[in-house]
Amino acid sequence: MARKLAAGNWKMNGTRASLAEAKALASQFPAPKVGILLCPPTTLIGAMAQALNGTAIQTGGQDCHQNTSGAHTGDTSATLLADIGATSVILGHSERRADHGESDALVRAKTETALAAGLVAIVCVGETLAQRDAGETLDVVRTQLQGSLPDTIDADKIVIAYEPVWAIGTGKVPTLDEIAQVHADMRSTLKARFGADADALPLLYGGSVKPRNAAEIFAVPDVDGALVGGASLKAADFSGIVTAL
Ligand code: G3P
Repeated sequence: MARKLAAGNWKMNGTRASLAEAKALASQFPAPKVGILLCPPTTLIGAMAQALNGTAIQTGGQDCHQNTSGAHTGDTSATLLADIGATSVILGHSERRADHGESDALVRAKTETALAAGLVAIVCVGETLAQRDAGETLDVVRTQLQGSLPDTIDADKIVIAYEPVWAIGTGKVPTLDEIAQVHADMRSTLKARFGADADALPLLYGGSVKPRNAAEIFAVPDVDGALVGGASLKAADFSGIVTAL
């Protein structure tokens, strides 16, 4: 995965008609200097990967099961995602941690399965507002990082996304200093555990990134890109974020 990455998480949004947005984005960036990834709902991954075939934009999933196959009705494995053209998968998003009770251990198991299937794993961490107010942000993020990652890493195959839960979809963004503090702490936590390899790990910020605030967020040290929700749905919005990177 490119060190600089603009990743879009469409969440549970998008129909076949929305593929036009992906194609419009691809035509705006025929040879981008940064990585561009769109993660549509599972129903669209195959069609999007096909629509974007031959372009510079990659397609990813938003979750996978921790097993490679078997009796898991309604679930999708990393192997199946790779089979339909996904190259990455978002794991441990706070919405999955909250809605589906995903623990760090489960996120780690999913990460290991995704890596074994050849996917890039985009592992999400981030504190709730109550945790931030209690001064627990760095501890929470460190614990999530330690628990959600495997024992060895390949910096080309793992991306970390810091998404403060209270900034997601709210229009609220931490101050640039707050983002810098968490990203610096993540980098040093990762270096302490994985050594120099951690220098090359892309660290994304996510939470209300828009074209209007992207450039200042990307100027923060140790911010290597963004994981974008709402503003990734329309090419007109997402292109402003890609250009800022
Ligand atoms: O994964 C991206 C996301 O949680 C951020 O969403 O809509 O605040 O950009 P949004």
